[in-house]
Amino acid sequence: MDSIGSEGLQQGEEALSCPEEGLPQPSDSSELVQDCLQQFKVTVAQLQQIQASLLRSMEQALRGQASPVPAVRMLPTYVGSTPHGTEQGDFVVLELGATGASLRVLWVTLTGIGGHRVEPRSQEFVIPQDVMLGAGQQLFDFAARCLSEFLDAQPVSKQGLQLGFSFSFPCHQTGLDRSTLISWTKGFRCSGVEGEDVVQLLRDAIQRQGAYNIDVVAVVNDTVGTMMGCELGARPCEVGLVVDTGTNVCYMEEARDVAVLDEDRGRVCVSVEWGSFSDDGALGPVLTTFDHTLDHESLNPGAQRFEKMIGGLYLGELVRLVLAHLTQRGVLFRGCPSPALLSQGSILLEHVAEMEDPSAGAARVHAILQDLGLSPEASDVELVQRVCAAVCTRAAQLCAAALAAVLSRLQHSREQQTLQVAVATGGRVCERHPRFCSILQGTVMLLAPECNVSFIPSVDGGGQGVAMVTAVAARLAAHRRLLEETLAPFRLNHDQLAAVQAQMRKAMAKGLRGESSSLRMLPTYVRATPDGSERGDFLALDLGGTNFRVLLVRVTTSVQITSQIYSIPESVAQGSGQQLFDHIVDCIVDFQQKQGLSGQSLPLGFTFSFPCRQLGLDQGILLNWTKGFNASDCEGQDVVSLLREAIKRRQAVELNVVAIVNDTVGTMMSCGYEDPRCEIGLIVGTGTNACYMEELRNVAGVPGDSGHMCINMEWGAFGDDGSLDTLSTCFDASVDQASINPGKQRFEKMISGMYLGEIVRHILLHLTSLGVLFRGQQTQRLQTRDIFKTKFLSEIESDSLALRQVRAILEDLGLPLTSDDALMVLEVCQAVSQRAAQLCGAGVAAVVEKIRENRGLEELAVSVGVDGTLYKLHPHFSSLVAATVRELAPCCAVTFLQSEDGSGKGAALVTAVACRLAQSTRV
Ligand code: BG6
Ligand code: GLC
Ligand code: GLC
Repeated sequence: MDSIGSEGLQQGEEALSCPEEGLPQPSDSSELVQDCLQQFKVTVAQLQQIQASLLRSMEQALRGQASPVPAVRMLPTYVGSTPHGTEQGDFVVLELGATGASLRVLWVTLTGIGGHRVEPRSQEFVIPQDVMLGAGQQLFDFAARCLSEFLDAQPVSKQGLQLGFSFSFPCHQTGLDRSTLISWTKGFRCSGVEGEDVVQLLRDAIQRQGAYNIDVVAVVNDTVGTMMGCELGARPCEVGLVVDTGTNVCYMEEARDVAVLDEDRGRVCVSVEWGSFSDDGALGPVLTTFDHTLDHESLNPGAQRFEKMIGGLYLGELVRLVLAHLTQRGVLFRGCPSPALLSQGSILLEHVAEMEDPSAGAARVHAILQDLGLSPEASDVELVQRVCAAVCTRAAQLCAAALAAVLSRLQHSREQQTLQVAVATGGRVCERHPRFCSILQGTVMLLAPECNVSFIPSVDGGGQGVAMVTAVAARLAAHRRLLEETLAPFRLNHDQLAAVQAQMRKAMAKGLRGESSSLRMLPTYVRATPDGSERGDFLALDLGGTNFRVLLVRVTTSVQITSQIYSIPESVAQGSGQQLFDHIVDCIVDFQQKQGLSGQSLPLGFTFSFPCRQLGLDQGILLNWTKGFNASDCEGQDVVSLLREAIKRRQAVELNVVAIVNDTVGTMMSCGYEDPRCEIGLIVGTGTNACYMEELRNVAGVPGDSGHMCINMEWGAFGDDGSLDTLSTCFDASVDQASINPGKQRFEKMISGMYLGEIVRHILLHLTSLGVLFRGQQTQRLQTRDIFKTKFLSEIESDSLALRQVRAILEDLGLPLTSDDALMVLEVCQAVSQRAAQLCGAGVAAVVEKIRENRGLEELAVSVGVDGTLYKLHPHFSSLVAATVRELAPCCAVTFLQSEDGSGKGAALVTAVACRLAQSTRV
């Protein structure tokens, strides 16, 4: 391998001169030496000041506050837990940036708990200087070539390899496999990489290279690899310290304290990036003239000031600057420097390590100095050793002060009196420098006496840890694939939606002709929308949605409504018909009493939101119950008669039931009162359905050829003939099977509020059984029918909600989950509600196109009156419906009007129109 050390420093030679005379006297020279070495002495008070200042800087960065001075960065890494030890598999690891100008490729086999440790195979490649300072693409191409070269020598397949990328520079990570380089540090300065996702750059290079199919699964900082790869001891390693070319630390922080994360529980590994720490107050007093010179001559003046006092890339250079200074003052080498001594980067970390090692002996120091072209005397050798010791001692002490700051942070955030913690250490300075670790440990004990720290050297220079993270990332990626596969059938493309629209059109035509069709296309006997001349007081009933309501509607020049909600217990909705209608009459009587209407016989409009075959405006035979209703002895009966009989049984005041109206019709009429172009009614609530104004001539079974009639499509039943089976998923089938009407209302069961929560619940059960969610643990709660209400979809998908609120909603349901789980649940909800909205949009597109064709228009402008809790409460449903309609019916300009007053108002208006017409015929 080539030398490390020189690449971070600008090249440049100092003037070579050998003083002929004027060498200092011995007493002067010892003073000069003293002066020089004294500069590298750091007092305990100064170390404590650095510790306190760094801690402040860390906490400020955690809070997301910008700092005026270059401070630590505190970058979250997306590593959320220390390893379980269960991770298994073969992984390729590529390390770039940890060890100066070299790049390392490893083949790591993880064998899980109890498995044999398998020694990794690895190879190191020297990165040419021009690559380190050249174009980014060149660097990544070089890395891809090294990968291939390494893999060529391994007995591995060319396909499906999983790679962990150890990239040791400050990066903004936005996922386990997404990481943007903030700025180069150490000796690198490739163009076109800062601000880019380095994972993508590597993927592109691997693809350009083309030899292997390698999936870059995770990217990690070297400190994280060091922490994660630590042999599992009694307690997990929660700090990873690297002192190599550069220096940095990572540790497990409380997620709630990391402002940039939307997370309030658990811990996340944060890379401190302390190399950039620079506080004039704290660091100023310990910076020497040599530090200033080094910084000035470096590739990145002003940056990474702290790193430049500790990192291995700089220690040799600091020693060289001191030796050159002392030589030029005539204190060393009789005042005769060599060209090498005056050349930047000539003294390397390994030289310093060796020279400082007391066991190396004077002969070794002598030899190294001679290699530098110097002719040392015994006193020179001794002084050079002292210089090396001073520079390295300071580095270890500064590193200790910084580590003590991290430990104080841990202790504080965990509210512990004494902190027991394991610190994984890695990097060549830690590993090979004899005194560095012992000084570091001693100083940490001094600065953080309340912490009981075990230092544990990392395995394979962090390679194993990178493989661990990669294994976790690979597992998450596999989960994501399973999630995608599960949700794929919910993602409908244009062709599928256009096919639904076309089928709907066919079924409409058949239904209108009276042929067998899943769309019943029921005539409603509503022939006109209101014209504004209606007047009077009306009673209205509204049964079949979330709420049962009784209303008093006063129609003057405007409409005033007084209403009351009454509950219908499930036992009544699914009990006997007599019970149900008696209950309804009880509610009406109660309402009349409360409103002082007792004894009056007001005309009544009845919104009854179930399929009825109407024989006139005031006669509707219930064809079948839908949604949650199943009262006995009602199907096949005239609902108005059932109501009148109940009135009789109750001996209540005779009510004048004038009209029975489906909720879609009520909604259309209600919105039609405001907008005469409203010729369609749409409900997306508990159930779903639509009605629209059809040409009478197209309606079989109703006499007359001119004019219009509103048709209740009962589109909830669309697909009951099997025509939607290709779109239906196994989850739809489960929901259908568990319902009170299996095989019925198939379209409704894919769209409406009564069922979406159930679909989501079934998907969640499936994902749990695959181990993708909830760590594979099935909970009793999730097995409970209807536990997942559709309103949760609306809440969860609300844009203003943070992921942690999503999690809170789910935890309220008794589903304890991680943020990964919460994100997946959100995606499930989105997929299910998006399909619902798109199917609904395909239905509306069929209707508007039918109206347009009926009228022979090139373009149609029409309004749709809409009601229903799902449509109104869901944050994206309405816009998705509109977008689908625009796509599938481009010749129709469709305006959606939300009904504000419910269908009860519409029922009253139908009643008012009927009364008006009756009056005018009587006149
Ligand atoms: C309202 C009607 O306008 O919308 C109800 O008054 C109707 O009768 C409802 O059924 C649909 O919404 P939901 O969500 O209550 O079923
Ligand atoms: C530099 C890098 C940092 C890395 C450290 C040790 O400080 O910015 O990401 O961890 O060197 O290699
Ligand atoms: C169900 C009913 C239908 C109603 C719809 C919306 O589909 O069968 O009549 O319009 O729900 O409430």
